[in-house]
Amino acid sequence: MKNSKLSAVLSVLLLSAGISAHAADDPLQKAIRDGKQLFSHETFGGNGKTCDACHVNGGVGPGKLPNGKAIPSLSNAATIFPRFNPKANKVVTLEDQIRSCVGNALQGTPPVAGSEALTNLVSYVTSLSQGKAIDMGGKPQ
Ligand code: HEC
Repeated sequence: MKNSKLSAVLSVLLLSAGISAHAADDPLQKAIRDGKQLFSHETFGGNGKTCDACHVNGGVGPGKLPNGKAIPSLSNAATIFPRFNPKANKVVTLEDQIRSCVGNALQGTPPVAGSEALTNLVSYVTSLSQGKAIDMGGKPQ
């Protein structure tokens, strides 16, 4: 039996047993979960840091640099991109920002555009802004 058929049969069995298989099977929820894993565990071959070394508490609260200096939380990050980055002298997207944190803060190899890793990180970071209004060019909270 093919895997997809098997999982369809399993879903029917679980559903008929009154157990919802929805959360476990939902591809978006999986991307968010996998992104959260990357956020707290993946070093991207760099200096050993992970995202949550600076963006503490899964990125929701105020962050801090290893030297203790405060940085904004990511709780509205997905609402304020694209925005102009004066240092880069161009408009950057959330994807660009995440790749730049991997390359600079983690000194790792940034996941390429379109890769599963980047999609998962974007999904997780965006989930932190769920329900908040778009505020392109706005300030981090
Ligand atoms: C060494 C500390 C450090 C690490 C580790 C780090 N970042 Fe950052 N990050 C920063 C700083 C500082 C800023 C804000 C300044 C800037 O724009 O570069 C920032 C900004 C961001 C922003 C934009 C926030 C906003 O609202 O403007 C996002 C999104 C982000 N980081 C995601 C990540 C992700 C995802 C990772 C892991 C792959 C990561 N960062 C790892 C220091 C870090």
